[in-house]
Amino acid sequence: MHAKGAAATEQSEQRSASATFDVQRVRADFPILARTVNGRPLVYLDNAATSQKPRAVLEAITSYYTGINANVHRGVHELSGRATDAYEAARERIRAFFNARTSHEIIYTRNATEGINLVAYSFVRPNLRPGDEVLITAMEHHSNIVPWQIVCEGTGATLKVAPIDDRGELQLDSFERLLTPRTKIAAVSHMSNALGTINPVKEIVRLARAHGVPTLIDASQAAYHMRVDVQAIDCDFLVATGHKLYGPTGIGVLYGKEARLDAMPPFMGGGDMISSVSFERSTWNVLPYKFEAGTPHIAGPIGLHAALDYIEAVGFDAIGCHERELLEYGTGILQDIDGVRLIGTARHKASILSFVMDGVHPHDIGTIVDREGVAIRTGHHCAQPVMERFGVPATARASLAMYNTREELDTLGRALKKVREVFA
Ligand SMILES: Cc1ncc(COP(=O)(O)O)c(C=O)c1O
Repeated sequence: MHAKGAAATEQSEQRSASATFDVQRVRADFPILARTVNGRPLVYLDNAATSQKPRAVLEAITSYYTGINANVHRGVHELSGRATDAYEAARERIRAFFNARTSHEIIYTRNATEGINLVAYSFVRPNLRPGDEVLITAMEHHSNIVPWQIVCEGTGATLKVAPIDDRGELQLDSFERLLTPRTKIAAVSHMSNALGTINPVKEIVRLARAHGVPTLIDASQAAYHMRVDVQAIDCDFLVATGHKLYGPTGIGVLYGKEARLDAMPPFMGGGDMISSVSFERSTWNVLPYKFEAGTPHIAGPIGLHAALDYIEAVGFDAIGCHERELLEYGTGILQDIDGVRLIGTARHKASILSFVMDGVHPHDIGTIVDREGVAIRTGHHCAQPVMERFGVPATARASLAMYNTREELDTLGRALKKVREVFA
């Protein structure tokens, strides 16, 4: 299609997505949003830390425990079969959500952190030699820094960090220069939790592949704001975490290309991950079970299944459109407040308003706005190197989800003006 025609089609699709999106209807699906905090209606703007759960998720978890609770993969009895079916149906749902080729490529983990550790210990560490390198970026969450540091320290390998600029954008040319024959993996965030920056992951993977470097994409933040398609990105591994996807805590997803996962040793040993055990030798189960030792968090995938159904029913077009509008509106509100400086102004960003206020510590901002019922996060957001890069000890961060409204951002704006008055 002609570029102008494509842009017009996209704009009209966005208009129709926003026309069909009814934020009040969405809010009604999230019971916790009806509560008050400190005598005020809750304004929940800490979604990058964890999102709230729609009723459908709570009901899926309750009906699992009240109707079919049993251990999976182990029993011939009716309930065990039903629990196993629900548990595996969730895997297929997750496969479809991320467009993996087969459900064998979807490994259940506790969270994104465990997925990254699994890849660090089972894929990267066995091949790391002194002088080898692991490449990350300067905007990573601690969970995409520390596991690599540990495996590097244990093997004499070096952690390399691609820089970001003053807007919080990855410097792609530097990233490419850091890809060398010694690079054993490039592990990059799809979207920064501290800045909101969205990285060009397809391009990142293409560059890495051109240098023969495998990739891990941390989609913990991106996955609840936009469609994440592992085949389109063409990464070797990708992690996500259920509790940010409107699902329960304790369930994460590791996607890995089948050939990669097949060639890797298990991460943890125990029940379910074996094919046979004797005192002399044990052999491993097929994918994905080789990486799922012990009784899993069965209700986790079942709740996540309902969460992904919910997201798909609302639709990423509508979610993206609504959240972009809110981000723009919230950015305007913050820019109008005296002494507020936004940290993270990438041209391509989503749903994160990280900021500092002259003369006021972020913790004081957080405490005062909490009195108004507004929940924001303050601190280093598990991204201390990002704080260092911008020369601040911490920021205050309002992070948006599909159920937030302009009125809530107005409340945040009024609360921040009170902070200004207190510290005038
Ligand atoms: C970008 C990013 N990566 C990884 C994580 C870790 O997620 P989890 O603690 O659920 O493993 C987070 C959580 O805030 C995150 O924002």
